[in-house]
Amino acid sequence: MVTQVSPESLSLFPETARIGSNGHLYLADLDVAALAREFGTPLYIYDAATMETRCRCYQEALASSYPAASQTAYAAKAFLCTALARWIAAAGLDLDVVSGGELYIALHAGFPPARIHFHGNNKSTDELVLALDAGVGRIVVDNLDELARLSHLAAQRAKAVPIWLRLSPNVDAHTHAYRKTGLLDSKFGFPMANGDAARAARQALQDPYIDLVGLHAHVGSQIFETTPFIETVEVLLDFAAELRAEGLDLRELSPGGGWGVRYTPSDPPAPIAPYVASLSRAVAAGCRARGLALPRLILEPGRSLVGPAGVALYTVGGRKAIAGVRTYLSVDGGMADNIRPALYGSEYTAIVANKADHPSQERVTLAGKFCESGDLLARDVLLPRVEPGDLLAVPVSGAYNLAMSSNYNQAPRPAVILVRDGTARLILRRETYEDLLARD
Ligand code: LLP
Repeated sequence: MVTQVSPESLSLFPETARIGSNGHLYLADLDVAALAREFGTPLYIYDAATMETRCRCYQEALASSYPAASQTAYAAKAFLCTALARWIAAAGLDLDVVSGGELYIALHAGFPPARIHFHGNNKSTDELVLALDAGVGRIVVDNLDELARLSHLAAQRAKAVPIWLRLSPNVDAHTHAYRKTGLLDSKFGFPMANGDAARAARQALQDPYIDLVGLHAHVGSQIFETTPFIETVEVLLDFAAELRAEGLDLRELSPGGGWGVRYTPSDPPAPIAPYVASLSRAVAAGCRARGLALPRLILEPGRSLVGPAGVALYTVGGRKAIAGVRTYLSVDGGMADNIRPALYGSEYTAIVANKADHPSQERVTLAGKFCESGDLLARDVLLPRVEPGDLLAVPVSGAYNLAMSSNYNQAPRPAVILVRDGTARLILRRETYEDLLARD
């Protein structure tokens, strides 16, 4: 498939993107060619205005469509560093973490612990202790072993711990198999069919050191339809209604994150507000139908908050034209900073940041610099004639790129900057060769 690079492709870029009179891509009024000179490449650029718009979109859509309390929690696994954690705290969002490492960064950033939710299918005792001692707001319990362990730790502290139960609702979401998390055959959450979910709820309700505050499910990621989310809500509410007589008071409900974003012009548009509104309606109507009081509704987006705010900037090192076969452009990054094409077959597009006004004239494949033939960032992209030294800007690089990055081939990880109103701030410095030896 050919990814057309047209003015429409600029719509995949952050909202402050424009082409300057010098033909360069600008973000937040900054010439990205100048940013490349200042910070080097590969460079990850996050546009604050785009993140702000998308956060506000979630919060306003929830406030206007859900007739009770609600909250948005950012799923830190999409990308986290101290500056971003502080930014999320200031924006008024809660934070969802899935590891001791994410929790450590959040606490280091001063994120209010009571607004942190701790997920994960195999939290270690050390991780649970870190969370309990910090006063994390919700532990999202995933299995019976964890429930027992948590109960023991809470009893030692003589303090009830507020939890959600993660249920596995057996809902099939249309996305890559590796991103499906709500099926019966899943490592995540309490299966309902074998009675584990009800067993966990009963145990939690009888445990003086466990405060069962709510129910949670997350059925997948990069989903473009509301149906699986609504099915999930129905399953969770059925469960709450069933266990009401046994004392379950559903005070909070979290149907997870998972809303998709467009990576290429051929992806469908994915506006946030209608998705949030239809979930809100489903929860409100579902509660009314079952005579349940409206719980606080919590959504947990990751990708749709930060994905479109991020741009990856690479320098082209060489071109290799194999007549009648393919032209490769090799860039100074690749699968170590973005494994998504290799892992999921994810598609990307790109523009030449220093020739953004030139007409497209050749079809090329963008190759990374790592020692794998599968290290291709984008195939069959139409670009202007590109020479070594030119800059390629890949949009929608803000979620799960750096979060899943590695030092493969001992590559130092890229620098990250946050841009806003003509200013760029370095929020993660580039790794150095010394960093590679720091643990050696
Ligand atoms: N809540 C829970 C419990 C999750 O497991 C996830 C993502 C989210 C929220 C946020 O989902 P989002 O809104 O970002 O779709 N590495 C994959 C994505 C894995 C998502 C894992 N869980 C990718 O690059 O596509």
